[in-house]
Amino acid sequence: MCGIIGYSGSFSAQKILLDGLEQLEYRGYDSAGIALLDEDGKLYLQKKAGMVSVLREACEAAPVEARCGIGHTRWATHGGVSDVNAHPHSCGQITLIHNGIIENYHEITAAFGFADRLRSETDTEVAACLLDHLYHGDPFETLVKAADILVGSYAFCILFQDHPGKIFCIRRVSPLVAAHGETGSFVASDLTALIARSRSYFVVPEATVMVLSAGEISLFDQNGHSVAPELLTVDWDVESAQKGGYPHFMLKEIHEQPDVLENTIRPRLFGGLPDFREEGIPDELFEKCENITILACGTAMYAGMVGKAIMEQILRLPVTVHIASEFRYDTPLLDEKTLTIVISQSGETIDTLAALRLARECGSRTLAIVNVKGSTIARESDYVLYTHAGPEIAVASTKAYMVQLAVLYLLTCRLALLKETFTRQEGRCFTEELLASSSSIRQVLQDDRAVKRAVKAVKRAENAFFIGRGLDYAFSLEGALKLKEISYIHAEAYAAGELKHGTIALIEEGTPVIALATQEKIFAKTVSNVREVKARGAAVILIAKAGAKTDPDVYDIRIDLPVEQDMFTVFPAAAVLQLLAYYTSDAKGLNVDKPRNLAKSVTVE
Ligand code: F6R
Repeated sequence: MCGIIGYSGSFSAQKILLDGLEQLEYRGYDSAGIALLDEDGKLYLQKKAGMVSVLREACEAAPVEARCGIGHTRWATHGGVSDVNAHPHSCGQITLIHNGIIENYHEITAAFGFADRLRSETDTEVAACLLDHLYHGDPFETLVKAADILVGSYAFCILFQDHPGKIFCIRRVSPLVAAHGETGSFVASDLTALIARSRSYFVVPEATVMVLSAGEISLFDQNGHSVAPELLTVDWDVESAQKGGYPHFMLKEIHEQPDVLENTIRPRLFGGLPDFREEGIPDELFEKCENITILACGTAMYAGMVGKAIMEQILRLPVTVHIASEFRYDTPLLDEKTLTIVISQSGETIDTLAALRLARECGSRTLAIVNVKGSTIARESDYVLYTHAGPEIAVASTKAYMVQLAVLYLLTCRLALLKETFTRQEGRCFTEELLASSSSIRQVLQDDRAVKRAVKAVKRAENAFFIGRGLDYAFSLEGALKLKEISYIHAEAYAAGELKHGTIALIEEGTPVIALATQEKIFAKTVSNVREVKARGAAVILIAKAGAKTDPDVYDIRIDLPVEQDMFTVFPAAAVLQLLAYYTSDAKGLNVDKPRNLAKSVTVE
């Protein structure tokens, strides 16, 4: 949450910062600001409530010639959305931007008597005052002292007014990446802002002080000793972080799914069977595990729910899925026989990270499924499997969900081979079907007319219900989340058989019910639940396999899935549910890629 960018180099910092903030806007879009420091130490501050475009307009009306500066796009935590609460915050010699939460800001304000100096309601301004208070000419010493006092998570980029041309950075938990290219030095909260600037970058290590200047980036440990950064190579291209002709990132990302699914699956197949040993994951990790725990948040957690349904069915092992924000304050039942699978697109979700740490403390071995290379969860987990989705920019996750599923299916297959619940032949059939999912998704994307008809039944509703049994229930959870987060329609997913125990009271004339009935074994049962809601006036959108027979009076709109095997219906069905949410949001004229109150990458609790 919150996008951060800093630049020191030979080009106009104002332009580079504004362009970078536009790339990072998906991390927060309540307000934005930049601070520029020219060669004479003159500071220019511009900050505005609203999107980066509002800031850009203000900046372009008053262009500044400076080659060093910092920029921030905010997702408000402490203090409402206003110009004064926007970052950067200044105090005396210090101007800074921050991503994270300073938990002891009240204590610091009281202990140092800052109350009268504060203009905003933010924890960040307190940090600026603290640094100014501690500063006596040596930025390094100041930052080391401040790090001892500040409690919480933070990534700071700081300008000291008497050090023109330099940006100083420290971080704890909250992410920061940096790169030095031909045009200068860059720091950002994530890679998307750096892709166009350099192919080589590094994750700023915690407990170091980083100093950026036009010619170089230096890192120092707490004792002032120089530290060499661990360089990584960007494997995303510039186009992958642009819309490429689509009206929204979300639609582009939905359409990328067949390709990213194949990219995630193919390199892991050897003779048609999955194997992760080349990625450093030993079979012994799977052989020893007696139960599995999955930890994640939001969409990633819903991918875990599908994983659980598949794993329990195939492996006959107990699998539990936990919401990471709950798990982290629980007394977990894990030990060394538990394999903990942690799922995260960003690899930075603070609750998922805390849950991962707790699982490790319990002695469980951890395997992370992560999209962003070098992210904190990827680095802290015992093992990591990267999904190859490329950058996901739309706030609502789509392609990341799809590839998380793919990895969970591959893992299930590897475990099944090792635990001998699959023969090699069964394993090969399974991976063939998995790969074929990319073409079933393609077919859904090529002909979305039925989905567009369904949008008409959904877009004016205040409430919608998603129902299904078994695996269908597992992925209806994600369908409901997608619809509510981008169309603001209240949507709930229910196990179809559970409706009668209360929820059916909410069904009235025209209430949309999206019924997933893709599982042969329980098809008739689900259809009879569909009849129950239809009889009470629901507008039923039935999603079923193309060949499945139903009476036409059961539904209002039917969407057929081009897939035969029950276990693989989730892939085309997820594409249908994503399109339904997308077209509904678009038809309502909403900001599809940046829904209200949300931000990509939830790095605060
Ligand atoms: C919803 C969505 C969120 C994320 C959740 C976890 O569309 O994107 O629910 O899935 O915030 O994020 P990651 O996967 O980055 O840990």
